[in-house]
Amino acid sequence: MADLSTSYMGLKLRNPIIAASSGLTNSLENILKIYDAGAGAIVLKSLFEEQINFAINKTFNQSENNYSYPEAQDYISHYTRENDLERYLKLIRDAKSRIDIPVIASINCISSSEWITFAKNIQDAGADAIELTIFILPSDPRRKSDQHEQVYFEILQSVMKQVNIPVSAKISYYFSGLTNMALQFSWTGIKGLVLFNRFFSPDIDIDKLEITSSHVFSTPGEMALTLRWVALLSDKIQCDIAASTGIHNGEAVIKQLLAGAKAVQVASVLYQAGFEQIGIMTGTLDAWMEKHGFATTNDFIGKLSYKEAENPAAYERVQFMKHFSGIE
Ligand SMILES: Cc1cc2nc3c(=O)[nH]c(=O)nc-3n(C[C@H](O)[C@H](O)[C@H](O)COP(=O)(O)O)c2cc1C
Repeated sequence: MADLSTSYMGLKLRNPIIAASSGLTNSLENILKIYDAGAGAIVLKSLFEEQINFAINKTFNQSENNYSYPEAQDYISHYTRENDLERYLKLIRDAKSRIDIPVIASINCISSSEWITFAKNIQDAGADAIELTIFILPSDPRRKSDQHEQVYFEILQSVMKQVNIPVSAKISYYFSGLTNMALQFSWTGIKGLVLFNRFFSPDIDIDKLEITSSHVFSTPGEMALTLRWVALLSDKIQCDIAASTGIHNGEAVIKQLLAGAKAVQVASVLYQAGFEQIGIMTGTLDAWMEKHGFATTNDFIGKLSYKEAENPAAYERVQFMKHFSGIE
C-alpha cells in the first residue's frame, strides 16, 4: 500500500481526505463514524460569530445578521439557548480523547468583534487548528471592495494574536483580484487556505411564486472552478491549500492534489452517499499511486500546478474555442 499521508497546515494527516464543516460533523457519534470511515481530519460544524458574541454580551440583534446560510438564524437562536459554547468545547475535548486525527474547529465570521477572545478557549479545549469561514456578501452598494477586504485581515490578524495553533481561512471566489488577495492572506501567517466555500443559493418556485432554497449539495462538475484556482495559486501563496467544492470521488481528489492541494474537504458526497465514500476515495487514491509508481503523496502533489504543468496556459484559458472544447 502506498503512503497516503500528507501534511496540511503543519498537521500530519493519515490521508488527504478531510470531512468538511457541516451538520455531519456536529456530534461525537458522527465524528467517530467519520474517523472509522478513514478520514484524514475533521472540521467541526461552524460556530457563528453571533452565537459567541451573544454568549459574551447576552445581547442579540437579529436585524444585524448577514449570513450566507438561512439556517444560521435558526441555528443561532436555537443553540444559544442550549449553552452552545460549552457544548462546542466539550465536543472538541470528547473528540480529541477518542480519535487520533486532527480536529479542526470552525468559526463562521464577518467581523473581528468580541468573539475573537473565544479562539483561546477553542485552543485550550485541544483543537488542533481553527478554520475561519469568512464571507461578506458584497451586496451593499455603499461598501467598496477594499472595505470588505480589510475585514478579512482584521479577523485573521486578531485571531492569530489569541492562539498558537494553526489558523486557516475558508474563502469564496468573490474577489476581483483573487490571486493578489490569496497572496496577501498567506502573508498574514495563516497556515491554510480553503478554496472555496460553497454557499446556500436561493431559487424561485415558479408555481408558488416563492423564493426557496435549492442546490444544497454540490455536483461533481463544480470541482472545475476549484481546480483552476488551486493550480493557479498553489505555487504562489505561502500556505497550504485544501480544495473544497464538488469533490465527490477519488479521481477528483487525485486531480486536486496534482494541481497542488495538500488536502481536500468533502461534505456533499458524505450527505448523499455516506461516510463509506471516504474509504472508497482513499482506495482509488492508493490504487492510482501504485499504478503510477508514486510511493508518497509528496511525489505527485503539485505535479500539474501552474508552474509545473507543461501547458499552464490551459489554466488561464477562459473562452470556449472549438479547437479545445471540441464543440462548435
Ligand atoms: C448542509 C451543509 C452545511 C454546511 N455547514 C457549513 C458550516 O457550518 N461551515 C462551513 O464553513 N461550511 C459549511 N458547509 C460547506 C461545506 O463545508 C463545504 O465547503 C461545501 O459544501 C463544499 O463542499 P462539497 O462540494 O463537498 O459539499 C456546509 C455544507 C452543507 C451542505
